[in-house]
Amino acid sequence: MTHSEELYARALRVAPGGVHSPVRAFRSVGGTPLFMSGGAGARLRDVDGREYLDFCMAFGPLILGHGNEAVRSAVTEALGRGWSLGTAEPYSLELGEFICSRIPWVQNLRFVNSGTEAVMSALRVARAATGRSKILKFEGCYHGHADAMLLRAGSGLADAPLPDSAGLGSNLLTDSPPWSLGPGASLEGGTVRLSPTAAAPTEARYTSKVCIASRKPSPSLPSKRLAGT
Ligand SMILES: Cc1ncc(COP(=O)(O)O)c(C=O)c1O
Repeated sequence: MTHSEELYARALRVAPGGVHSPVRAFRSVGGTPLFMSGGAGARLRDVDGREYLDFCMAFGPLILGHGNEAVRSAVTEALGRGWSLGTAEPYSLELGEFICSRIPWVQNLRFVNSGTEAVMSALRVARAATGRSKILKFEGCYHGHADAMLLRAGSGLADAPLPDSAGLGSNLLTDSPPWSLGPGASLEGGTVRLSPTAAAPTEARYTSKVCIASRKPSPSLPSKRLAGT
């Protein structure tokens, strides 16, 4: 048994499916989830010492790679000022101004904690702005666990029946029936069938295809087991 498998057996006792996000589940692709012990630059190392090229980068925030020095010193400096203030503060204002000044089509923004919240809010804004309710949802694309996005949500949920999770409203299939994005698929039929559509979120690259095992070990990666693992 690998160390990842041991940890997974323990995780099954405390979390549904042993994971904390559907995209980390392996049931539909075989095997058990890999537990990573650390990352450096473009690489991850798992608790069994195997290395991977990381094409996920925490789904975006690690755009400069794992353990980037400039990010580390900015985070350390911010920690010295307080951890989470739970109030309005000037730091998110500065970041918001920076983003709005550099991306012309960003008129204003709100920071959220997860992709799920971002997508949920974007769908609500799209529905409010257009006065339409239908969302064009592509099969296999994962956009977090907001209700409307849990239909054919990709490999993380492929082993579940449609809708991909219990507890979803029955109007979902009519409001956002999953539409194929496979080779040869045509959007025209979808647009006609769903017209008028409020929004059509999509993934340029499926979330689940994010790590490639590396043959060459990298000396900069931490190989020590994490405390308690
Ligand atoms: C395209 C896309 N949207 C939304 C999400 C959901 O993000 P989170 O897990 O932070 O809620 C993901 C996460 O995998 C994603 O890949």
